[in-house]
Amino acid sequence: MSKEIKKTQLYFDRNIEVGEVDKRIYSSFIEHLGRAVYEGIYQPGSKFADEDGLRKDTLDLIREIDVPCVRYPGGNFVSDFHWEDSVGPVDKRPHRIEPAWGVIETNEFGMHEFMNWAKKANTQTMYAINLGTRGIEDAKNVVEYANIKGGTYYSDMRRKNGAEDPFNIKLWCLGNEMDGPWQMGHKTAEEYARTATEAGKLMRLLDPSIELVACGSSNMQMPTFGKWESTVLEEGYDTFDYLSLHTYYGNQANNTPDFLASSVNMDNFISAVISICDYVKAIKRSNKKINLSFDEWNVWYHSNEQDKKLEKWVEHPHQLEDIYNFEDALLVGSMLITLLRHADRVKVACLAQLVNVIAPIMTSDTGAWRQTIFYPYMQASRFGRGVVLNTVVKCDTYESVHGDAPFIDSVVLKDEENKTLTIFAVNKDLENDFELSADLRQFEGCKVAEHILLTHDDVKAINTEENPNNVIPVTCSNSKIDGGHLTSVLPSKSWNVIRLTY
Ligand code: AHR
Repeated sequence: MSKEIKKTQLYFDRNIEVGEVDKRIYSSFIEHLGRAVYEGIYQPGSKFADEDGLRKDTLDLIREIDVPCVRYPGGNFVSDFHWEDSVGPVDKRPHRIEPAWGVIETNEFGMHEFMNWAKKANTQTMYAINLGTRGIEDAKNVVEYANIKGGTYYSDMRRKNGAEDPFNIKLWCLGNEMDGPWQMGHKTAEEYARTATEAGKLMRLLDPSIELVACGSSNMQMPTFGKWESTVLEEGYDTFDYLSLHTYYGNQANNTPDFLASSVNMDNFISAVISICDYVKAIKRSNKKINLSFDEWNVWYHSNEQDKKLEKWVEHPHQLEDIYNFEDALLVGSMLITLLRHADRVKVACLAQLVNVIAPIMTSDTGAWRQTIFYPYMQASRFGRGVVLNTVVKCDTYESVHGDAPFIDSVVLKDEENKTLTIFAVNKDLENDFELSADLRQFEGCKVAEHILLTHDDVKAINTEENPNNVIPVTCSNSKIDGGHLTSVLPSKSWNVIRLTY
């Protein structure tokens, strides 16, 4: 097929804003799963460990991304977790059978260790409670332990365990994927709605400043999707601040155009959940708006077959260790753009996960390295701050399993304080380059600061421990401004960050 340059036009207006980016849209997730905690962020005895046993090489990469908040400790793990097991003298902490992932949890790393790590990683914590095998009393106790100053049973226990000051955790997940039959303590929508509402009310009686995330659906294909959301919100509308969404995509069919169109499905999912939130708002005649926490999203499928062969009841095996290729990085870029385009309602989003387990960062005994998906995530987090402008992308579309998909995904952000405009764009066309044009005359004196490009001839190209720089971004001179008009060449199969100053 011959290569042609196709055209795409971006339309936006300096004053027509979607909303301010809540930096927590670039959050991530560490679960007690596989080698995320043990060997990922914590490995006493390793040459990379600091005085607390925390891996410095991993911390460096996390700080490079600038991760604003990390969800912890699960995931499916949390639904049978006893938080008390994870505090106090390490030699007294019980080793537990961990049914969610078929392993043994030693509890050597627990709440205090995580909070110490989070401080070093310069990140906030989103703490998930167990609403599977436990209930509202434990929900109350863990808030007392973490957030009450002192003078009570659990707050004094925390002080005795070495943390004089409260942890002041502000963001709490009311369970995890409670709609999923695989979840320990899985509930019907009605059961979950009652438990989560009462747990949330009690938690907030202890600390009125906390924010609460109720479980939405584990993905849009769940048979209970829609009804689950409306039932949960009708019960707990006044108690919850956010409703969660989770989704993972895979290219099992080895059809790259369909796979890259998955962001269309994500976009539909977000729009549908917003509609349900607003439907409940309307029937309640409420002035309150429920926002979205997309607290698990990523590509996940490469490790599925390998994980079926794992031995059971061992400690931190190599689990969910997807090695990401270049097309995964393109989709992650498109998913980030999709989240940003909904910045008015998506306030929290967690790339699941952060280290070793379906993660942008991998570790081994020789160090930590960046997977392909590291780059769009890191660049969006570093450069995608400010206000999202309502961005209309005119370009050709193609048919996919998810419906009509545009060849170009894009969004524009402005940062009036730093006088910058940032354009993120993915070209999903496997053959053709696109010339992107935009009218910048509203931004007088606008100049190209840099155009960063991530591209590769082979969509299956990967980074490995031995060859960590196979897929890496480069700066290029593909963008020009002439008479206030921007033209940028977006090569076929590429993630682009176009940074402008005015
Ligand atoms: O992130 C891996 C798992 O995916 C989480 O534990 C669970 O919440 C989801 O199903």
